[in-house]
Amino acid sequence: MGDAQAGRGRADALVLFGITGDLAEKMVLPALYGLVSQGFELCRVIGVTRGDWSVERLRDHVRDAVTAHEKVEDKALDKLLALLRVARVDYTDASTFRSIAEQADGCAVLAHYLALPPNLYEPAARCLAEAGLSENARLVVEKPFGHDLASARDLQAGLTRYFPDEAIRRVDHYLGKESVENLLTFRAANTVIDTILHRHHVRSVQLTAAEDLDVADRGGFYDATGCLRDVVQNHLLQMLAYFVMDTPRSGSPEDVLAERTRALRAVRTVLPEDYVNGQYEGYRETEGVAPDSVTETYAALRLYVDTDRWSGVPFTLRAGKCLAARATEIAVEFDRPVAGYHHTVCAQKAAPNLMRLHFEPHAGVAFGLLARRGADETVVDELTTTLGFPHLNRSRPYEHVLEGAVTGDPTRFSTMEAITECWRVVSDLLPAPFPPLTYKPGTWGPPESVRLTRDDHWHTPRTP
Ligand code: BG6
Repeated sequence: MGDAQAGRGRADALVLFGITGDLAEKMVLPALYGLVSQGFELCRVIGVTRGDWSVERLRDHVRDAVTAHEKVEDKALDKLLALLRVARVDYTDASTFRSIAEQADGCAVLAHYLALPPNLYEPAARCLAEAGLSENARLVVEKPFGHDLASARDLQAGLTRYFPDEAIRRVDHYLGKESVENLLTFRAANTVIDTILHRHHVRSVQLTAAEDLDVADRGGFYDATGCLRDVVQNHLLQMLAYFVMDTPRSGSPEDVLAERTRALRAVRTVLPEDYVNGQYEGYRETEGVAPDSVTETYAALRLYVDTDRWSGVPFTLRAGKCLAARATEIAVEFDRPVAGYHHTVCAQKAAPNLMRLHFEPHAGVAFGLLARRGADETVVDELTTTLGFPHLNRSRPYEHVLEGAVTGDPTRFSTMEAITECWRVVSDLLPAPFPPLTYKPGTWGPPESVRLTRDDHWHTPRTP
């Protein structure tokens, strides 16, 4: 198999590094069960661990992880358990990786999934190559991919010593969200929507990804990461790319990836004056967090997208922990009525037409429109019509991530080029140019961030 196809063949073994870890327990194993229960033909799963695990112990672990998350059907769970093998490795000794080769006996294409701390990505890739397990294989790595542009490039250089770029898949689970992918479907299928999503009609766009929970038991990880690196550089910018990208010529991975990347290339690097960071009160008391931490748990920024379609339209993005609600939404504000009829007849200042695209906690779309109240022509009411997309609520992004790892389809992964652009966009904000402002848990973050919006006004997300 040549390099160009190296990443594409369907795997007949999924080699799952870190199978006994937290990420596998919470995300990967439930997703594998989900796939099997939906009839997906899953291949052999080789669990890789540093400990001395028997396959029976691993099966018990997988059973516990899956049943902790959902009600299971025994038949599907047994099917998953029967696919399990176990291999023990030491990341400082490539010869131990022979244990993987033994378990992969007879398999032609391997998918190595690294659910590992990032400092082990390179050692794992090197040992795989030295053990002869990098040919006809792909490498799937979790986020974060680097902690800034330079470290992402270093990581890329390290990994491509052992695996060609075409064989590397970089996880961003937002790319596995059906509600996010629907941004493209919704626009491409509805010309009425696609036509108005244009600088000729749009006054501003706000993207909110708010979480009401705190950082919980991830203090150590979060304090070294912060909101910008944790969700903005990756998830929010990828969502933005889906929103602003031109419609690809086809649904082929090449066309979709090319347009998504082109969109990211057009995003201007954010200026420090267009950035507001915040930290919720009480964050510094979290276990694993430095008592004098200046890590941001909230980030808001304004940016511009230099394409024919979006040039000049301000986009304001915000994300954070401990906010007033769990809600992910894109609010598109359209132009206000021009001087003339409306202003002469109607005494009210017209509210702007608004389209809200909802992602979390429920997928859907809402339109805010104005209509005359009745006999009195001087009064208009603001009316909202909401459509739910109930089929998109079941979406389990990790199932799509694992599906892509097994089938080789790169569409739902990030590329090095996209990651490079995303780091570039936030490069002047890392390290933070100023300390974060404090905000109260349960609010919408530092009130100062309102200055980044077009009209000094955030549209509070509403869930359908
Ligand atoms: C993860 C971040 O990548 O995304 C978490 O590390 C964050 O801090 C999560 O909570 C948000 O994902 P979702 O799918 O729950 O919106």
